Amino acid sequence: MRVLISGFGTVGQGFAEVVASRQDFFRERYGKEVRIVCAMDSKTYASDPDGLDPLELVSVKNTAGRVGRNTYEDSVKVMDSVDYDLLVEVSPTDVLTGGVGLTNIVHALECGKDVITVNKGPLALKFPELIGLARKNRCKFRFEGSVGGAMPIINLCHENLMGERIKSIRGIFNGTCNYILSKMDSGQPFEQALREAQQMGYAESDPANDIEGYDAACKVVILANSVFGRNVTFSDVNVTGISSITSEAVALAAANNMVIRLIGEVSDSKLEVSPRLIPKGHPLGISGTLNAAQILSDLAGPIAITGRGAGRKETASAILSDLIAIMDARK
Ligand SMILES: NC(=O)c1ccc[n+]([C@@H]2O[C@H](COP(=O)([O-])OP(=O)(O)OC[C@H]3O[C@@H](n4cnc5c(N)ncnc54)[C@H](OP(=O)(O)O)[C@@H]3O)[C@@H](O)[C@H]2O)c1
Repeated sequence: MRVLISGFGTVGQGFAEVVASRQDFFRERYGKEVRIVCAMDSKTYASDPDGLDPLELVSVKNTAGRVGRNTYEDSVKVMDSVDYDLLVEVSPTDVLTGGVGLTNIVHALECGKDVITVNKGPLALKFPELIGLARKNRCKFRFEGSVGGAMPIINLCHENLMGERIKSIRGIFNGTCNYILSKMDSGQPFEQALREAQQMGYAESDPANDIEGYDAACKVVILANSVFGRNVTFSDVNVTGISSITSEAVALAAANNMVIRLIGEVSDSKLEVSPRLIPKGHPLGISGTLNAAQILSDLAGPIAITGRGAGRKETASAILSDLIAIMDARK
């Protein structure tokens, strides 16, 4: 399996490390290695048809600030110069235009390549088009890590719960908001909890994407389109963030044995992100940066999952699960 990685930041490097650590597994299960034949960051790329050393790529990126010696301006030209089977697209999320991630995914699918991405922008904006393109060109297109990081929600719904009629999914899909709300549970005001989240590296210096609920809304869109077969986009979500939650509201909830959590909800008719009252001890009443989801289906009833919604190796774990599914399908 020859892999081209687009984006070599936290997730791209985490994936390269996972590839290095799983070569014995790949050899044993498939009789061959996974070769990274190209890696691109925003300005440079490295390529080798025989496969690049994943750990050396990470080391060069961290010491020299670039993944390779070659510079480029047009990612599509780089992609066309490489023989690869699978694009792993992990460039920055751009929910306004889809960004370079959308360009790269469309190009790979048009060329008949399989694609794995955790980039929410293209998925939240152009899901039906991308799925259609993948079907037309008989490509695999997988995106487990785009919702909930290491928490295996999409493949759980598509594979393990394949025969179920899923009625709704409710979940905590933004760890930063959950961290802030958990801190407010222990008495911190919103501004202080936000500052602490920024100091811990959980929230960006411009935290709007998290606290206004936009990041969770992207995930709700991805679930609506992929699990419920809806045809919706970011602007269809009814979004309320957590920036106007007061300490008084949190205290009042606590007095009634409740917590306030930012909940994304998807069903055939609902598409919403908003702060909700959750009973203490409920699977969605968790604290800290974790993500959680409750899937309600007709036969199984409620199923609750929780896991790390972000992180270098955690997100790479989701990409690995998609990679194995693609390699199994090719066996
Ligand atoms: N971090 C997580 O835990 C996590 C979890 C789930 C999903 N995601 C998603 O995964 C993606 C990557 O996240 P990250 O945390 O790895 O971000 P990051 O650390 O900021 O890395 C982004 C990488 O993309 C590169 N890049 C920027 N513009 C590019 C372009 N035009 N073509 C190719 N590469 C380009 C950057 O290049 P330079 O190095 O040159 O700047 C950098 O290597 C995002 O879409 C994010 O939403 C992340």
